[in-house]
Amino acid sequence: MKTFYITTPIYYPSNKLHIGHSYTTVAADAMARYKRLRGYDVMFLTGTDEHGQKIERRANEEGLSPKAFLDNVVDWIKDLWNIMDISYDKFIRTTDLEHRQTVQKIFKKLYDKGEIYKSYYEGLYCTPCETFFTEHQLKEGKCPDCGRDVEKVKEEAYFFKLSKYQDKLIEYIETHPEFIQPPSRQNEMLNNFLRPGLEDLCVSRTSFSWGIPVEFDKGHIVYVWIDALSNYISALGFMSEDDTLFKKYWPADVQLIGKEILRFHTIIWPALLMALDEPLPKQVFAHGWLIIGGEKISKSKETAQKTIIDPSVLVKRYSSDALRYFLLREVAFGQDGNFTNEALINRINSDLANDLGNLASRTVAMIEKYFGTLPNDQEENEFDPSVRQIIAENVTIFEENMEKLHFNIALENIWTIIRRLNKYIDETMPWVLSKDEANKPKLAGVLYTLSEGLRIISIMIEPFMPNTPQKIWEQLGIVKGETTSWDTIHKWGTLNKNVTAKKGINIFPRIDKEKDLESLFSENSTPEVAKPSKKEEQPSKEEITIDDFAKVELKTGEVIECDKVPKADKLLVSKIKVGGEIRQIVSGIAKHYKPEEFVGKKVIVVTNLKPVKLRGILSEGMILCASDDEGNLVSIGPMEEIKSGSIVK
Ligand code: MSP
Repeated sequence: MKTFYITTPIYYPSNKLHIGHSYTTVAADAMARYKRLRGYDVMFLTGTDEHGQKIERRANEEGLSPKAFLDNVVDWIKDLWNIMDISYDKFIRTTDLEHRQTVQKIFKKLYDKGEIYKSYYEGLYCTPCETFFTEHQLKEGKCPDCGRDVEKVKEEAYFFKLSKYQDKLIEYIETHPEFIQPPSRQNEMLNNFLRPGLEDLCVSRTSFSWGIPVEFDKGHIVYVWIDALSNYISALGFMSEDDTLFKKYWPADVQLIGKEILRFHTIIWPALLMALDEPLPKQVFAHGWLIIGGEKISKSKETAQKTIIDPSVLVKRYSSDALRYFLLREVAFGQDGNFTNEALINRINSDLANDLGNLASRTVAMIEKYFGTLPNDQEENEFDPSVRQIIAENVTIFEENMEKLHFNIALENIWTIIRRLNKYIDETMPWVLSKDEANKPKLAGVLYTLSEGLRIISIMIEPFMPNTPQKIWEQLGIVKGETTSWDTIHKWGTLNKNVTAKKGINIFPRIDKEKDLESLFSENSTPEVAKPSKKEEQPSKEEITIDDFAKVELKTGEVIECDKVPKADKLLVSKIKVGGEIRQIVSGIAKHYKPEEFVGKKVIVVTNLKPVKLRGILSEGMILCASDDEGNLVSIGPMEEIKSGSIVK
C-alpha cells in the first residue's frame, strides 16, 4: 500500500491555541483524510514544542512546575483537536521520553561526525522569541519579530556547521522545484538567505534549564532547532530500537508550516538531515497567515481582542464542519487572509446554508413529496448532459487541486457543481413536471440526477467536513460503503435508481448575523478574548458618602474548600470560614485560580449581600478581588494576621 506522511509544526503550548494555529492543523487534516479516502496508508503527525525559557517563565507565572503547566495546556489542545475532528495518528510532545532520548542520540551522532563543535556564542538575545540576532537584523534596536528589547549574552555553546551546507542546499532547491511550495517561496529562501551566505548555527544553551541536556556535557541544553525539528523523525522511532515506522514513512510527503518558520524548515532542517545522511522531506509547504486588522493573530494584540479567536468557542457555536470549511475556503492556501467573525457567518449563510443546505433539503423534500422512493422508470432531459459534464470536469480538476494543496480552489470546484445543480432545479422545474402524470418519468430522472450529484458532492466534501456526508447519506438512504468510496465520484450512475428519501434535520441552518454576533461577543467577553482596550480608562463612579460605604459589611475570612462549578468555565464555588460561620460563595475567578490553589487563602468577604443562586448554586456573599485592564485578577486579603470574621472598614 502506498504511504503518505504529513506533519504540522509542533505548537508552543505557552498558551491556548487560537484560530491561526487551527488553520495549519485543519489543512493537514483535510489532506490526511483525502489521502486515506484515496487508499493511502497515512501517518499524520502533530504535537507540541514544550521546551525553552518562555515555557519555563509561563509556568512560573502560573505558579506551576513546567510539566504540570504543560499537561494542562496539552489536554486543552487535545480536546480542541478532538472537537475539530482532527484525525492525527500520532501526537508528539517534546517532553516525551522517546523524543528526549532520540534528540540526545542525534546530537551525539552529529558531534561524533564532526558536524557539531564547541565554541562561544555572543549575541543579542530576545527572550520571548528565544532567538539570537545580529546587530543588523534588529529593527530600530529591538527584536525584528516581536519588537521587544534584546539583551547582550555571551556563553559557551555548541555549533552546527550549517555554513558547510550552503552550496548543497542551493543545488538541492534548484534541482527539486517541488521541495519548497508555493514556488514563490523558493526564491525568497535562495535570494534572502542562502546566496548571501550561511553562518554556523548555535545549537545549545546554558542560559536556561528547561530542555534536553546534551548527554555528554550536561550543563548544555539542546537548543530549539535540533530539539523541535527532530520531532518529525523521533515520532517515527528514528535511532531507536524499533524504527519500523521511520523506515516505512520517512521521507515525509508534505510538511505543512506557516510562512514565518520556512527558513527553519527549508534551510536548517534539510541541512541537519544531510548531516545525518537521511533523505529530505519531499515537500515543505508554507501557508500564509490569518490576519486580524492587518496583523498576524496573537492573543495579546488589541485587534484580536475585538474578535473571537478561540477555536473551541467557534466550533461549539457553528460546528466543526462549518469552521473547517471556512478556514480552507476563505483564504488561498499560501497567501494571507483576513479573519473576522462576520466573514465566518457570511460563508456559513451563503455557501453552506444557501448553496449546499438548500440543494440537499430541496432534493430530499421533493423526492419525499412526489415519490417516497424513485421509480425505475426515469427519463433524461436536455440539461442532463451539461450537468454530467460539469461534474466530470470538476471532479478531475478537484483531484489535481487537492494534490497541489490548493484547498480553496478544490472547494470552489465542489461549489461549481453545487451551484450547477441548484440551477438545474430552476431549469427543470420539478414542481411543474409534478402537475402532469405523464411527466413522472422525467420528474424521477431530474430527482435522480440531483441525488446522484449530491452523492458525489458528499464524498468530495468529506476531507473538509467529516460530519456532513453522513447527514446527507441518511436523508438519501445511502449506506456508507461501496457507493460512497472515492473512485465512485468518477462513476456517474453508481447510486441505485430507487432512491428513498427521508427528510432529516436541516444540515446547515441560516444564522441571523446581527443577533448572533451580538450574543457571540456578550457570551464570550472573558478577559482573555475581549478585554477592554488599554487606552480606555475605567470611568470613575459617582461620589458616595461614608454612610453609603458603611452599608457594605466586609469581614475577613479563610477559604476552607473550593471546587469548580460543573459546566461553568468561569465559576468556582468556595466555602469560606468567616468567624464562627461558614459561607458558600460562587465567584467568577476560575480563569485565575485553581480550586486547590485557592484553598487556604485569606480573603475579604461582603457578608450582607443578598444571597443569589448562580447556576443553581446558592451564593451567600462576595469575595473581593482586584482586576486590571490586562485581564489579570487577584483576590484581596489582610496583609497581616488577624482573626477570621474581623470587620473591615
Ligand atoms: N514551535 C514552533 C514550530 C516548531 S516546528 C518544528 C512554532 N510554534 S507556533 O505555535 O508558534 O506556531 C505553529 C504554527 O501555527 C506555525 O505554522 C504558524 O505559522 C501557525 N500560526 C500561528 N499563527 C498563525 C496565524 N495567525 N495564521 C496562520 N497560521 C499561524 O512556530
